[in-house]
Amino acid sequence: MEAVIVLLPGDGIGPDVTASARQTLQAVADKFGHRFAFKEELMGGAAIDACGDPLPPATIESCMASDAVLLGAVGGPKWSDPNAAVRPEQGLLGLRAALGVYANLRPVKIYDALAGASPLRAEILDGVDLLVVRELTGGIYFGAKTRDADSASDLCVYQRYEIERIVRVAAKLASTRRSKLCSVDKANILETSRLWRETTDRLMADEFPDIEVETLLVDAAAMHLMSRPSDFDVIVTENMFGDILTDEASMLAGSMGMLPSASLGDSARGLYEPIHGSAPDIAGRGIANPCGAIASAALLLRHSLGLEDEACAVESAIEDAIASGARTADIAAAGETPISTADMTDAINRYLN
Ligand code: IPM
Ligand code: MG
Repeated sequence: MEAVIVLLPGDGIGPDVTASARQTLQAVADKFGHRFAFKEELMGGAAIDACGDPLPPATIESCMASDAVLLGAVGGPKWSDPNAAVRPEQGLLGLRAALGVYANLRPVKIYDALAGASPLRAEILDGVDLLVVRELTGGIYFGAKTRDADSASDLCVYQRYEIERIVRVAAKLASTRRSKLCSVDKANILETSRLWRETTDRLMADEFPDIEVETLLVDAAAMHLMSRPSDFDVIVTENMFGDILTDEASMLAGSMGMLPSASLGDSARGLYEPIHGSAPDIAGRGIANPCGAIASAALLLRHSLGLEDEACAVESAIEDAIASGARTADIAAAGETPISTADMTDAINRYLN
């Protein structure tokens, strides 16, 4: 097949891991007989430096004309002055809104060989295979903000239809897995959460009576994720709770550098990004873990291009490379010699078949 893929390297380690994902996608194209056209565009702090806008119109245009978008990471100390007029993160939020990608899928998969990289005991990790479905274009991230010298406010708003569509995505995914859905809210405090719970309960009873539904308050969910992570199948939650819980959940996998994400809307076009940030402390040193970005490329193949076999081939290649002992610094145990981003990428691509 032919596809146009827009790459948004962004900031910090973003360019390193995006280059890795591109190499793997090119290797997939060569091996399976596809033609991918890659187009790189400016985004985040790099775009602020180039033209003062974290999401230039040309970037939006290219993304809208593409089959899929792969993003590295945005942000860094250079652009994080609290009084800055524009911020890299605004570009990312603007892009998510422009693409209409309201469903952010964050799968947490544990590689057996990496059980020792997690701060949790191996027996707690046994059987962990969960998927967080985070609402991505609503809630407190997108509500009105106010600020004066001594006060500030951020409005959290949800419409019923926004809750219904994300819960449907999560429930459909649950029905292809272990048929368990956990909805996370803060309904003892927040009005938006009470609407969330009421809407979820009704929709699940009406449309997905065969799926087992559990509801947790977000503070309890944070605890249960650590104490009984293998009980979870699909977790659905609002934007900010999903942001926080997925950083926490990444510790199950040993490193944020391992986890991919897919952001999907109503069309096939999706936005794919590793869940890690720009990691300015290691930027430009060639030691970042490319696994999250490469696993995001696998999700791109699956969800935007419909190439399931190719997606599985990439996921197995990551697993095989890890099993063979390839480790970047973030997942290397004491005594293991870490390898570079480029060598990790080569190791993965060697197992692609
Ligand atoms: C994420 C990130 C972003 C978010 C930031 C960079 C805006 O933390 O994708 O999880 O908060 O959504
Ligand atoms: Mg986050």
